[in-house]
Amino acid sequence: MSIEKRKTPIFHYGITIFLAALLFVCVFSLDSKNPLDRLRRDWLGAKGVGTTIEEKEKINTKDLVPPQVVRITTTDFHDDNFVMMIQKAAMDDKRVILTDVNEAFAAPNSMLDLFLESFHNGDNITHLLDHLIIVAMDQKAFEKCKSVHHYCYLHEDIGTDLRSENVYMSEAYIDLVWTKVRLWQLILEQGYSFLFTDVDVMWFRDPFRHISVYPDLTIGTDRFFGNPEDHNNDPNTGIVFAKPTRKNIEVLKYWREARQRFPTEHEQTVYYQIKYELSSKFDLKVQYVSTEYWGNFCQLQKNFTKLSSFHPCCLIGLEKKIAQIKIITDEWKMYKNQTNQS
Ligand SMILES: *[C@@H]1O[C@H](CO)[C@@H](O)[C@H](O)[C@H]1NC(C)=O
Ligand SMILES: *[C@@H]1O[C@H](CO)[C@@H](O)[C@H](O)[C@H]1NC(C)=O
Ligand SMILES: *[C@@H]1O[C@H](CO)[C@@H](O)[C@H](O)[C@H]1NC(C)=O
Repeated sequence: MSIEKRKTPIFHYGITIFLAALLFVCVFSLDSKNPLDRLRRDWLGAKGVGTTIEEKEKINTKDLVPPQVVRITTTDFHDDNFVMMIQKAAMDDKRVILTDVNEAFAAPNSMLDLFLESFHNGDNITHLLDHLIIVAMDQKAFEKCKSVHHYCYLHEDIGTDLRSENVYMSEAYIDLVWTKVRLWQLILEQGYSFLFTDVDVMWFRDPFRHISVYPDLTIGTDRFFGNPEDHNNDPNTGIVFAKPTRKNIEVLKYWREARQRFPTEHEQTVYYQIKYELSSKFDLKVQYVSTEYWGNFCQLQKNFTKLSSFHPCCLIGLEKKIAQIKIITDEWKMYKNQTNQS
């Protein structure tokens, strides 16, 4: 009995220390000086609607799910309808272009319209739209897609309503972000390569002019420091090209499984965590594309002689992004007009 009594307080201290440690870890992971948080904000900015960082962080804190509760699906995915669409949309060398939208980004005069328009304003790239599959993440986005584009795929697997603005960093939202990697894997498994582009990337020139046969993966950057093979470039998985190799399929599986270790993170943050592992385990060759070619606001260098696309990263809020995209589009049109004149 007396031993029992002496043990109990120690046991309680143990629990208290454990809880304190847990709290410390939670608080630390929400610290905005944490580099992961910058990524998270950029991502939210990329997909986000007009809220400030502060508002977003309030939402994040509230909606963050404790790791042990997160349901992680790493099962492989197959849908014959999607496979048929890949076959129809592919170029004759089995390349497809892929993007995804939710209701907010598909709304009239929003990103989807600007995205499609950019191909029409671009330098002879309208034909690329024949090879574009738009993945709709909810019914409204799907309806909108069908009214403006040929290849629209409704990805219903999540079963949660993701139209609400309040789901950032919630389990369902993170699931949504990860479903795109499942779709990438399925495309490779069918023997097709894909270029994934976020729907807020505006294309001026053919994206493939900056993709070579050498690397396994080609990835965009927030900031580029000169060496295309250096993982220290800030990768941005908003633009990704992958060849249909066995290695790449294994890499995507590994990437998806790594989510177990970082349950509340989206795919780009997990990529940051595992990029060196991928290189050593799979001998993965990645080429990062300079922001001179795939431009953005993180490292702004707007030389239209070189620019192939523009991605409004490092700018928070859907309305702000749209306004800036319109300015850049007008500048591009002026540039094109001038060069056509001469
Ligand atoms: C535009 O692209 C198409 C398809 O690649 C090509 O056949 C055509 O010659 C191009 N036109 C110009 C003006 O470059
Ligand atoms: C833009 O890029 C072209 C081609 O490399 C170069 O000749 C030109 O000097 C650049 N313009 C500016 C303003 O840097
Ligand atoms: C293109 O340039 C011509 C001549 O400078 C001008 O009249 C026309 O409005 C311009 N078009 C656009 C779309 O800027």
